[in-house]
Amino acid sequence: MGVSRGGFSSRIGFIMAAAGSAVGLGNIWGFPTQTASNGGAAFVLVYLVLAFCLAYPAFMAELLIGRYGQANAVTSLQKMSHKLWQKRFAFIVGFGGIICAALILSFYGILAGWMMSYAIEPLAKLMGFNEVAQWLVDQSLIRNLAFTAFFMLLTIFIIRRGVEEGIEKWSKRLMPMLIALLILLIIYVVTLDGALEGLNAYLNPDFSRVLEPDLLISALGQAFFSLSLGTSVMVIYGSYISKKEDLVSLGAQVTLIDVSIAFLAGLLIIPAMYVAQAQGVAIFAEDGSLISGSSLVFTVLPSLFDGMGAVGLFVGFGFFVLMTIAALTSSISMLEGPVSYAVERHDIERTKATTFIGLGILALSVIIVLNIEFMLDLVAIISTQYGQPIIAMLCSIFVGWIWHRNSLLAEIKQGHENIENTLFWKIWPWYVKYICPTAIAIVFLHSL
Ligand code: PHE
Repeated sequence: MGVSRGGFSSRIGFIMAAAGSAVGLGNIWGFPTQTASNGGAAFVLVYLVLAFCLAYPAFMAELLIGRYGQANAVTSLQKMSHKLWQKRFAFIVGFGGIICAALILSFYGILAGWMMSYAIEPLAKLMGFNEVAQWLVDQSLIRNLAFTAFFMLLTIFIIRRGVEEGIEKWSKRLMPMLIALLILLIIYVVTLDGALEGLNAYLNPDFSRVLEPDLLISALGQAFFSLSLGTSVMVIYGSYISKKEDLVSLGAQVTLIDVSIAFLAGLLIIPAMYVAQAQGVAIFAEDGSLISGSSLVFTVLPSLFDGMGAVGLFVGFGFFVLMTIAALTSSISMLEGPVSYAVERHDIERTKATTFIGLGILALSVIIVLNIEFMLDLVAIISTQYGQPIIAMLCSIFVGWIWHRNSLLAEIKQGHENIENTLFWKIWPWYVKYICPTAIAIVFLHSL
């Protein structure tokens, strides 16, 4: 590990950081919302299949690119290239991922800001500041600007400190808190009236819906977003892992954590919806569709917490703090992509690069907030529905078709002497070459 660039100091440090990147609003907000709008358990089933069969192999491709290159996405991809056109292609893919990360962060910071304001609201209520509490949960320009800026400054603060002192230390602190809080909330929710009906909707799939095109596309997008693919983030995190570590099992562990937390979040939110419904909150329209898709967590959960009386204030505080934490460990990874590029390719000092890039992305967020109706969805769609799958597909093409096979195999072997006897060794190189790009392309074209 190069002394000057830093790296994760331990296995657990990497797992927490990569899982921290993967686990975010996508798991705790996106996944349950998508599940509720796409037929419940059928979506869960398809998501699980796609996450393990397509997202995990693509995730491994990005980690391996980074660990081989020991550098930011562009440099790493260029190290695998031999011809001039390949180096140019490497630049497009690597830089494309970096731009994608910056775009995602620009809208993600706004959503994370909402989580923060919802976390503070119960505190304001507790102190008797009811007007402030109301302001915190009403959509307003000032509130959105203030909390987006606050969240971005926190992100900048952590990334300025570097890999070990910043990313690793904070992910190790924040991730276990998140898991514990989630489990406590689930235990509480399943004891309430209506929760069983919710569990049934969540766990009992209607197989006739499994092949619906909309459902497939949403599940694929969700799986790629959740593993932070196509954004250069996993390439750079891969580059901070020591060559002694067994990347294949680390990648599998991170995928398992990511998928499990999405599953746990569903176990909380879907039953909570039905509990809220049993308490008289309108959740579904007459035709069975969801009334409030993306604002689900902001309507269902607060009404659930209200129903708990005074305890609900603390639970509400806990839940939205949890969301903020999850968002923060993801947003730091998004900022690390562009920052590592600026530091390594343009020799800019880390703290300077972080501040400039962070403020630049914040400026973009401000533009989005000022045009929120029109720009929020647009930026989200461009970066997550188009950017991520395309870049992730190009990464697997890179690994399968441009990287020399022998050097790819040698990289897989690092840290895992007996890998030749595993299924991964036998299947994955072929899989990433043919199946990943084709399957991603098919689902993607289907969505057009
Ligand atoms: N995976 C994160 C989530 O689920 C979002 C993310 C996307 C993080 C892209 C980094 C890069 O919320």
